Amino acid sequence: MENKFKKSNELYKIANDVYAPTGQIYFFDLVIDSGEGSIIYDIDGNEYIDLLSAASSTNVGHKNPKVVEAIKTQAEKLIHYIPGYFHNELIIDVSKKLIDITPGDFSKKVLFSNSGSAANDAIIKFSRAYTGKKIVLSFTGSYHGTTYGSMSLSAVSLNMRRKMNPIVPEVEYIKFPNLYEKYDNETEKEFVDRYWGYFTDMLKTHIPVDDIAGIIIEPIQADGGFLKTPVEYMNRLYEFTRKNNIVFSVDEINQGLARSGKMWSIDHFNIKPDILTTAKSLASGMPLSAIIGKSEIMDSLEAPAHVFTTAGNPICLAASKSTIEVIEDENLVERSRDLGEYAKEKFNKLKDKHKVIGDVRIFGLNGGIELVKSRESKEPDYESAGKLITYLKENGVLMITVNGNVLRFQPPLIISKHELNKSFDIIEEGFRLLEKGSLNIDIDKKIGW
Ligand SMILES: Cc1ncc(COP(=O)(O)O)c(C=O)c1O
Repeated sequence: MENKFKKSNELYKIANDVYAPTGQIYFFDLVIDSGEGSIIYDIDGNEYIDLLSAASSTNVGHKNPKVVEAIKTQAEKLIHYIPGYFHNELIIDVSKKLIDITPGDFSKKVLFSNSGSAANDAIIKFSRAYTGKKIVLSFTGSYHGTTYGSMSLSAVSLNMRRKMNPIVPEVEYIKFPNLYEKYDNETEKEFVDRYWGYFTDMLKTHIPVDDIAGIIIEPIQADGGFLKTPVEYMNRLYEFTRKNNIVFSVDEINQGLARSGKMWSIDHFNIKPDILTTAKSLASGMPLSAIIGKSEIMDSLEAPAHVFTTAGNPICLAASKSTIEVIEDENLVERSRDLGEYAKEKFNKLKDKHKVIGDVRIFGLNGGIELVKSRESKEPDYESAGKLITYLKENGVLMITVNGNVLRFQPPLIISKHELNKSFDIIEEGFRLLEKGSLNIDIDKKIGW
């Protein structure tokens, strides 16, 4: 039979010799060539409906014409001049816009970096500088990035620790309140009490409250498995920071910019964070991240504590300005919310049919489908997840897993209903074959991390 992934397979063999393994989480041999809207083409000419958006980096779609035009126009004018020395106009434009669209009507300032990781590093810097304290608290299951600072805030993969310790000191991890771990006979209030208890135990045994500088949280954990923080827990956490002079920061790098059916995932809660970080879709995948924080906090450090030669690059900022305009002009928050409800119904119907689906967690056009060996034990079913995403890829739908057993669903927010329905037809068939035991796919390499 003709191998329709021939070029991809060949290039992966070469890549193994020239590209370091830590730079790619392996799912299958796939070399991307081009993309448009919600469609991706590989180097062999195969077409896929993209249910990933390049890890939530292309919320406005691949090659969005307005973003492409903005990039081209700026490239003709100036590719780069170091914003660490002299401003360009776009720095002011995009900063003003971000101040405007982020929660909180207090005075704010913005700072750009090149990656989500670097933005989260700044959270450690500002929390310590502003409060004069040292300890930063993060959550188990969180993914905040892979620079030393942001990796130290993360607690989701041993590969982000092995052979690299010691990490940045004085970071501690609170057990994340994952509602999928709620006991059957427990109410949500009892569950929150139990998890709040885990946290307050830490304060009684080894973390002096007076030494805590900051807390960082993904209001909806993404790589951790698409887990929304219970509202009551979030409220207690925020109140705790108000009482104890602690900087409260939210990481919106994955879940921000309309992804969760709100502009920011913290908008699911009635909370105005001290600092918010954003990246990925901020400039449609061009390297740009931003920290938006209360002015008094953002004034607590001096240059060059967080200067990067290429942070605030004008082409990236032009892409960002037009991306935000598209999100607003095309009502992508509402679109994400409404199509997300539609997708949730579809996935829940699949759950009714297939017991391999343990949980469906959809927030906007965004979420995770947890595959388990049994609903009682909730034991992760890595093999089924690996087989399923491989089947989907071979049949024109691009999906991967987080945590090994949670299907990641993050299509571009401009995806048409027709494309969405088409992808659901293929997903449904995949689950049908999986249940019948006829997904004869050999997973020869380890998938995911
Ligand atoms: C929630 C979250 N924070 C931070 C990061 C790191 O961003 P970057 O890969 O741009 O450094 C990611 C990337 O996946 C993320 O999902």
